[in-house]
Amino acid sequence: MNITTFEEYQTAYAQSVSDPEGFWAEVAQQFVWKKPWKKVLEWNFTEPSVKWFVGGKMNITENALDRHLADKADHPAIIWEPNEPDDQPVTITYSMLHTRVCRFANVLKKYGVKKGDRVCIYLPMVPELAIAVLACARIGAVHSVVFGGFSAQSIADRINDAGCTMVITSDGAYRGAKVIPMKSTVDDALEKCSTVKNVIVMTRTRTPISMLKGRDHWWEEEVKHVDAICPAEEMDAEDTLFILYTSGSTGKPKGVVHTCGGYMVYAAYTFSNVFQYQPGEIHFCTADIGWITGHSYIVYGPLCEGATSLMFEGVPTYPDAGRFWEIVEKHKVNILYTAPTAIRSLMSFGLQYVKDHDLSSLTKLGSVGEPINEEAWQWMKHNIGKNNCPLIDTWWQTETGGIMITPIAGVTPEKPTYATLPLPGIQPLLVDEHGNEIEGNGVSGNLCIKFPWPGMIRTTYGDHERCKQTYFSTYPGLYFTGDGCLRDEDGYYRITGRVDDVINVSGHRIGTAEVENAINMHLGVVESAVVGYPHDIKGQGIYAYVITEHKPDDPEMFRKDIAVTVTRVIGPIARPDKIQFVSGLPKTRSGKIMRRILRKVAEGETSSLGDTSTLLDPTIVDEIKDGAL
Ligand code: WT7
Repeated sequence: MNITTFEEYQTAYAQSVSDPEGFWAEVAQQFVWKKPWKKVLEWNFTEPSVKWFVGGKMNITENALDRHLADKADHPAIIWEPNEPDDQPVTITYSMLHTRVCRFANVLKKYGVKKGDRVCIYLPMVPELAIAVLACARIGAVHSVVFGGFSAQSIADRINDAGCTMVITSDGAYRGAKVIPMKSTVDDALEKCSTVKNVIVMTRTRTPISMLKGRDHWWEEEVKHVDAICPAEEMDAEDTLFILYTSGSTGKPKGVVHTCGGYMVYAAYTFSNVFQYQPGEIHFCTADIGWITGHSYIVYGPLCEGATSLMFEGVPTYPDAGRFWEIVEKHKVNILYTAPTAIRSLMSFGLQYVKDHDLSSLTKLGSVGEPINEEAWQWMKHNIGKNNCPLIDTWWQTETGGIMITPIAGVTPEKPTYATLPLPGIQPLLVDEHGNEIEGNGVSGNLCIKFPWPGMIRTTYGDHERCKQTYFSTYPGLYFTGDGCLRDEDGYYRITGRVDDVINVSGHRIGTAEVENAINMHLGVVESAVVGYPHDIKGQGIYAYVITEHKPDDPEMFRKDIAVTVTRVIGPIARPDKIQFVSGLPKTRSGKIMRRILRKVAEGETSSLGDTSTLLDPTIVDEIKDGAL
């Protein structure tokens, strides 16, 4: 099933379109199933309802752990590189990981967590994060990992939406030079949550924290008193494996639901093929497990394939901008999977941080999260890959579960800044604003997918209608990605960015409406409008236009106060980069904000604002232009 040449890719692709069920059945057969499926696929994109491997029973941890015990028990599963370069890295073999997962799964059971219960995980990038995720999967509990940078309010919103009964966290976290509180943030969140019965706290920083009797328990203490054997719960292929919250163009973040069987098959298949993983290679994905990239390409994909996954606790610029390269050299990393924002940031520090490190172990490079610009692509290819490593630009989303459009490393001819071609099983199409398919090459439009794939979203937690509205209603019968895309003369795809009110800041997806709601909570703010603008390092920055009750006496201080409110409500990733105070917003007579104008001004393109005649008050545009930051 593994693709090794471009001809094999073409054959596999053709088969996956002519006989999708046969294609995926062959892939799925390579996994351990407790009971075989009765039907490969049942679907319609109207309800929508998508079921893969119907009636099949399995547990993803038997595939990620148990099945490797026969021949890879002493093989490293996870290599953990701590925040401080001088601290000792930790290697966890498959057999050790298996034991630690089983023990922790028994701790979850001891506190009453059962199949189907939701567990919130709020941890730094420590091995316990991967262990907690796998322990939930072991017993059939649904994990909802919340990225460590989110605020107490965001944690509370996610816990309440999913009705989590347990939270797993740590006392604190090390991130570069900073020590970040975790448990106290969870404590603040839990004041607003009534469903949580127990909290397990892992010790990382030994920061003083409050431990409530009857609710809070130390991880290290608990694992001492439980059995090291924990049978894997039998899961239906369509039982929920996890929820992961992501932002959209409206409302609060939604819980994207992934299920056990299809997600497993897709994460593992894409991992081994896209990266052309060879046994023994060390795979370093620099994402946080709090995002889908970490779920699929630090935890599930690599472990299901028996690979060695490197987990890094810190940040790329600590203690200096050479940290990634030092890690590559120290651990002889073969595959490096990172984000354009990290590349651009490291580029800006100069080559002196690269040149003293031996990067000859690298065999493959990958990029994910946002469009990669030509300069960053070339820099990575030449200076990190020494023109010797394939560099793949992988396009996908939280909702897709795994990589969708990408070169297969060393197999698909590359084209800088292009995600190139769809993987087998993925049938993309471009549509115009009316939903008509745009055929042929050398065209651009909105990117949709017309046929299901095993890793796709099944629902949005607790609100199926929202799933339908968001993804399956804009263009009936199609899954709509929210991305704009061009297909060049060779049929290669290049994703150009979101076409909805979602912005991508350093590869993190943020809804403009969410940021506006947070800004509007600030005392003295009447209204706001948020847009993205091109940012050299982050890809997009956050530009906020704010109407205040009174002209601020100290605008600089007011900006800082607003930023603190946004950090409190959402988290530091949503903090506006620029705040412009305005007396009004460009609204049409029907009251709709003309975001096009705000985007242009934020981009610094004030000469081509287009037609403003439908505005209620066209003079506001001049004021906004004159005050542009
Ligand atoms: C959005 C999804 C999938 C893991 C990380 C982000 C943008 C992602 C690329 C790429 C251009 C990309 C899209 C997409 N995006 N990868 N290679 N080229 N754009 O997951 O937070 O769900 O965000 O990120 O706009 O819709 P996410």
